[in-house]
Amino acid sequence: MPSTKSASTPIDIRPATGKLGILVPGLGAVATTFMAGVEAIRRGISKPIGSLTQMGTIRLGKRTDARTPLIREFVPLTKLEDVVFGAWDLFPDDAFVAASKAGVLSKEHLTELKDFLTTIKPMKAVFDQSYVKKLTATHAKTGKSKADLAQQVIDDIKEFKKANNCERLVMVWCGSTEVYRSTAPVHASIASFEKGMAENDPEIAPSQIYAYAALKCGVPYANGAPNLTVDTPALMALAKQNNVPICGKDFKTGQTLMKTILAPGFKARLLGVEGWYSTNILGNRDGEVLDDPESFKSKEVSKLGSLEHILQPHLYPDLYGNMCHVVRINYYPPRGDNKEGWDNIDIFGWMGYPMQIKIDFLCRDSILAAPIVLDLALFMDLAQRCGMSGIQEWLSFYWKSPQSAPGLYPEHDLFIQLMKLKNTLRHLRGEELITHLGAEYYD
Ligand SMILES: NC(=O)c1ccc[n+]([C@@H]2O[C@H](COP(=O)([O-])OP(=O)(O)OC[C@H]3O[C@@H](n4cnc5c(N)ncnc54)[C@H](O)[C@@H]3O)[C@@H](O)[C@H]2O)c1
Repeated sequence: MPSTKSASTPIDIRPATGKLGILVPGLGAVATTFMAGVEAIRRGISKPIGSLTQMGTIRLGKRTDARTPLIREFVPLTKLEDVVFGAWDLFPDDAFVAASKAGVLSKEHLTELKDFLTTIKPMKAVFDQSYVKKLTATHAKTGKSKADLAQQVIDDIKEFKKANNCERLVMVWCGSTEVYRSTAPVHASIASFEKGMAENDPEIAPSQIYAYAALKCGVPYANGAPNLTVDTPALMALAKQNNVPICGKDFKTGQTLMKTILAPGFKARLLGVEGWYSTNILGNRDGEVLDDPESFKSKEVSKLGSLEHILQPHLYPDLYGNMCHVVRINYYPPRGDNKEGWDNIDIFGWMGYPMQIKIDFLCRDSILAAPIVLDLALFMDLAQRCGMSGIQEWLSFYWKSPQSAPGLYPEHDLFIQLMKLKNTLRHLRGEELITHLGAEYYD
């Protein structure tokens, strides 16, 4: 019996020729760490640690075939040498000043990369303080209406593409977390959304204006924050109509990454979970924004989903039916970007005997997020060159709260997500899908 599923015809993939512009709304800690890291790799100062597109391999065929190419050699991805960066921010600081303020990278790294980072200057932002209460813009666009602001972003995109001689573009939201919003009537269709923009509907967030502009220009959009943004019928329809890939939301970095690694293990061994308490301290600008209860609500909703979806309490009521899951974030300036996250996990085993697991994760948020931005940009560009459009569920691997088709529950288990991602790549190249059945080795 084969452990691989029959091969399909390879998809026609447009080659990754010319330059790829990576556009990021939000030139803060994550964006500048990402850009500095890419340049450090290009200069041979660093290795692309944490990046699946750069360091990951993919097994093809049988285990005995010994075919394990690098992912970037298996599928045609844009080379780092061909990447250029653009950004918008509500502060005029260039990427060197922004990175220095973010305090993620060492003085040595910043000095070494200063000549490059100072060339990245943000364009004026689309901003509305009612969506990010803790920040006040000094570098924002003004316009008669939200439709006018969207047109200004469209003009920025076109000008950037021309000035940088780009063949293709992708947009990855690295801006702040907006206040919590759910879908409103204005988000119901493209027509209602466009009418709402012309009439300045307050339910249209700044992030949605960028996303609309990107989709109108045929630019893939990935949503790095827990914002609603493209999780709306209007923007999903626009993505399909214009054949553009979208995905989100909220980069899966610290505590949620740990949850989606550990929880599948507990479930695999049928260990019960009575409670999971997560708290953390962080002191960067993101932490300050999340100090506002309305922005925290967006983050909380995004963080709470993973455990329930992985543990499936409706299927395992004895193990997970009464689980108490609490998530807290505390803004604590002395720590800057060097977050500390604690998890207390109350589990139980045979005959119901309780046990506890404590995790103390001294992580660096932006160091974990930067390779995710790179991978998403390169995979979203690949998806577009493959003719894929709408929600890219195969990229769930990167998200705290993966966007999936309406009515379909998201897949949160990191290992299933990775299998799905790699099987998608195999499918694109017409390789057999791996099922791990493996019976043929014993025939
Ligand atoms: N660092 C992580 O591990 C991580 C993980 C998951 C999600 N995120 C999310 O990624 C985003 C970026 O995180 P960060 O640590 O870089 O935060 P940050 O505060 O350092 O940077 C965000 C930047 O976005 C800018 N901004 C806000 N609204 C904007 C707008 N409308 N247009 C343009 N710029 C705007 C801010 O001025 C700021 O410079 C946040 O939403 C955060 O929640 C981060």
